[in-house]
Amino acid sequence: MTSLLSELSATAGAAFAAEGLPVEFGQIQVSDRADLAQFQCNGALAAAKLAKANPRAIAEKIAARLRDCGLFADVSIAGPGFVNLKLKDEVLQVRLQRLAADPESAAPGSGAGKRAILDFGGPNIAKPMHVGHLRSAIIGDCLQRVFRANGWEVTSDVHLGDWGLPMGQLISHLAIRRPDLPYFDPADRTPYPEQSPVSMDDLERLYPEAAAACKADPARLEAARQATLELQAGRPGYRALWRHFHNVSATGLTREFESLGVVFDEWKGESDADPLIPEMIGKLKNDGLAVMDQGALIVAVAKDTDTSEMPPLILVKSDGAVNYATTDMATILERVREHDPDLILYVVDQRQHLHFEQVFRAATKGGLAGRAGLEHIGHGTVNGKDGKPFKTRAGGVMKLYDLIAMATDEAMKRLNEQGLATDYPEEERNRVAKAVGLAAIKFADLSNNRVSGYVFDLERFTRFEGKTGPYLQYAAVRIKSILRKAEGEGYKNAAPVIRSEAESKLALQLLAMPEAFLAAETKRAPNLICDFVFGLAQAFSRFYTEHHILSESDEALRAARLGLCRLTLTQIERTLGLLGIEVPERM
Ligand code: ARG
Repeated sequence: MTSLLSELSATAGAAFAAEGLPVEFGQIQVSDRADLAQFQCNGALAAAKLAKANPRAIAEKIAARLRDCGLFADVSIAGPGFVNLKLKDEVLQVRLQRLAADPESAAPGSGAGKRAILDFGGPNIAKPMHVGHLRSAIIGDCLQRVFRANGWEVTSDVHLGDWGLPMGQLISHLAIRRPDLPYFDPADRTPYPEQSPVSMDDLERLYPEAAAACKADPARLEAARQATLELQAGRPGYRALWRHFHNVSATGLTREFESLGVVFDEWKGESDADPLIPEMIGKLKNDGLAVMDQGALIVAVAKDTDTSEMPPLILVKSDGAVNYATTDMATILERVREHDPDLILYVVDQRQHLHFEQVFRAATKGGLAGRAGLEHIGHGTVNGKDGKPFKTRAGGVMKLYDLIAMATDEAMKRLNEQGLATDYPEEERNRVAKAVGLAAIKFADLSNNRVSGYVFDLERFTRFEGKTGPYLQYAAVRIKSILRKAEGEGYKNAAPVIRSEAESKLALQLLAMPEAFLAAETKRAPNLICDFVFGLAQAFSRFYTEHHILSESDEALRAARLGLCRLTLTQIERTLGLLGIEVPERM
């Protein structure tokens, strides 16, 4: 549908056009003085500059036309020429009833016919996921949901880190620890065993050992480098062993992402781009963009306008191995070839900004990106109370799994404190606690500006008051309970009506959904979705406090209010759905 705001802008635009002024000046926005007006139009000021006229005089003419159009209960002029607007209740009511008849129509449809690839999560195989990957997963998942809701065709890819030095470190370490295994004999001994020689637990133990050994001993590091090189060159035993690392890790990682409620379309990794590396490099060499420099193959990406140092991108290291940048370059070629996307978004820690800037410049120079826009959607870190990246009490990296368990425990504590879900069957209580814990983590993460870091504080995140995930879940659950009781009484729903200030405020908030969804998409800003749903819950809360619903004796009015409850619930649930937050049936 066309949103209320765009409909009003069109009306005001027509008023400007009728005065011989550009329609764009008719842009309407939600009033920043909600106590004075619902909407405002500031176009008269800019129009006055253009027409070299008095802004108030122009505002008068526009206001006169808007008074005549029949939509507004009040049109007034403030300050140097702002036009303040308030809709007639019956006009608002028609729009509200249209929305109630088709709540899906609130999606802006901005992505129709467009394709995006979302690269997020990005865990490294053989290592457990940690909170650093948590933000990428939560933000990336929210963006994939927002883009889809807005009509984009989205392909999400976890882009596993599976082709660098850690693989060689593991292989060379295992060669020492388990020389009996068949993978280290240089001769091809295909077929290799189908059973993995290591479990996820083994990998989690072996990798830190291997990394420590390489750090302490240059000979071990050299062996790891050599193994990485041979793996990449296709040594059969190493490839077979690597395949096991890959599969064992992917199984573990899928489980972790699932417990977070995050699903990917593709489980590709750096290694999948390997077959395209020669072609990518060949192309850049042919174009004279990739050149040898001190034994390495590099692409210069600096520009005259750079204000800070922009080192060249290294495609092939002097030892012959490819690296993170190389696989990212080849992955662009692969994605463009497979999907021909309009956009590729990389939801990755802000600290990798330089890497992406180098890759994007080199890919653009080399014509690898086709028509796709390439964007790094950076995010800040999750910090402990000391302001440094979040750690366990023992000082280790906090695993995602443990984090979710901690949040579930804290949520259970809160539920008990509030006397919520207390008499439910054990299984349901646990389910509710997990949903509340996840909502707490996700909302706290998403409601922050994406680029800033934040302090991980479960005590605060799990509160049922304030701007938190649990508060919003509870708001939705409360509406569910009203509707359930109404159904029990045999009360009917009807199209919502507007009879009061609280109802009109709630209607305005409901009708602002398309703009909120669109802004979250164009700014890649999940926090705007959080702001919107919080505003909606607050508007509902006021309506709920000021009006009788179940106890309303006027049957028609009660039915209309129940209709408003139902519409609000639908939109709160849909919006929380974009944040990856589930609403329990009761609590
Ligand atoms: N594996 C990387 C890391 O843990 C993140 C990958 C992000 N995606 C990409 N295409 N580079 O830092």
